[in-house]
Amino acid sequence: MDKPVPKKSTKRRSQQPPPHWRKEIESVLISQERIAQRVRSLARQIEKEFAGRDLVIVALLNGTVVFLADLLRRLSMPLRLDFIGVSSYGGGTESAELVFTKELRLDVSGRDVLLVDDILDTGQTLFRVRAKLRRLRPRQIKICVLLDKPSRRVEQIVADYVGFTIPNHFVVGYGLDYAERYRNLPFVGVLHPEMYKNPDFIPLLSAKKRRLLQGVEDELDSDGGQEKPE
Ligand code: XMP
Repeated sequence: MDKPVPKKSTKRRSQQPPPHWRKEIESVLISQERIAQRVRSLARQIEKEFAGRDLVIVALLNGTVVFLADLLRRLSMPLRLDFIGVSSYGGGTESAELVFTKELRLDVSGRDVLLVDDILDTGQTLFRVRAKLRRLRPRQIKICVLLDKPSRRVEQIVADYVGFTIPNHFVVGYGLDYAERYRNLPFVGVLHPEMYKNPDFIPLLSAKKRRLLQGVEDELDSDGGQEKPE
């Protein structure tokens, strides 16, 4: 009798981070290689869509820096670049906390804007930033994010270009931080839940990040999902 052919698992096995990160980072969710591949294909899509247009890339500080630098170097087309600074401070409702720390300087009126952010989560940040940009009357605004966490969406907002759709993990690396750390990891990793309680870091977290971590902690055992490229 023929031996049954073992089925290939479609679930991607989570990778261990390099040894020196293992206490803080639970797993590598998206490797450096996969990110590089995906950034290349996003750049190709963007070049196609904006060919011949007067493109202004507007990136949100600070989480986009690594993704943006890689994406920019893959775009072989004329473009201009500007930044908007957004931070969330204090208590109260999430949207009321949003503070603009750097305003746009370039004129985007009548131009094509590509708004770039690290992660689309509840959608409140990009919803507000897009509303602000719309008042400047650009020709169109498209949104590009490295990561999309649709399970936590509160605002009706859809990104036009998404690197990876991920489940509700608190992720760090490749620009994303926890108390301003881990931005320099070359991969996207899942923060070790032990770190949520680290007394050195907690005072440095914004109210928004604390709530986000609480939500992730509540869901931790029930979520068995995997990230997938768009
Ligand atoms: P909203 O909820 O407004 O959030 O879409 C977007 C901003 O929230 C931060 N954010 C995260 N930062 N790991 C992080 O380091 C995460 O898992 C995460 N989820 C949301 C981030 O600053 C993003 O721009």
